[in-house]
Amino acid sequence: MNEQVCSQKKCRNLSRADFLGLAVPTFAAFWTMMAGYPIYRYLLPKPGEGEAQSKVGSVTLGAVGEVPAGTGKNFRFGSTPAIITHTEDGEFHAFKAICTHLGCTVQFREDTDQIWCACHGGCYDPTSGKNIAGPPPKPLEPLKVAVVDGKIVVSQG
Ligand code: FES
Repeated sequence: MNEQVCSQKKCRNLSRADFLGLAVPTFAAFWTMMAGYPIYRYLLPKPGEGEAQSKVGSVTLGAVGEVPAGTGKNFRFGSTPAIITHTEDGEFHAFKAICTHLGCTVQFREDTDQIWCACHGGCYDPTSGKNIAGPPPKPLEPLKVAVVDGKIVVSQG
């Protein structure tokens, strides 16, 4: 009986040791991935950089009424995510929708009237694309917008 208890106790101690033997390296690997992922993303070329993006000269989005004043809309500029905003002053503004922090795709938020990055809460001005809050280090890359025959045409900035 006593031997069996000791045996169980020994097993329990071994279990803890085994658990720690697995948990510590697992935690270390997880922590390394968490710390290394932003560096990995920073070193990767941003989506849309390179040859495919340069092949697109302009994109026709549709009628002016499809982007009402006070709203914004994401679209593809070739392989590059892009965003157009229609500010209350009646002007259209377009940018590459690639966050300058770590490359997430930004979106327009009507409730705050800002371009917003969900990854780390970065905010941009919808008129100029200027980084105004959060971690983004520089403004969004601008695109040109023109209204041709009642349609919105976006071209390289
Ligand atoms: S990737 Fe946009 S705020 Fe970090």
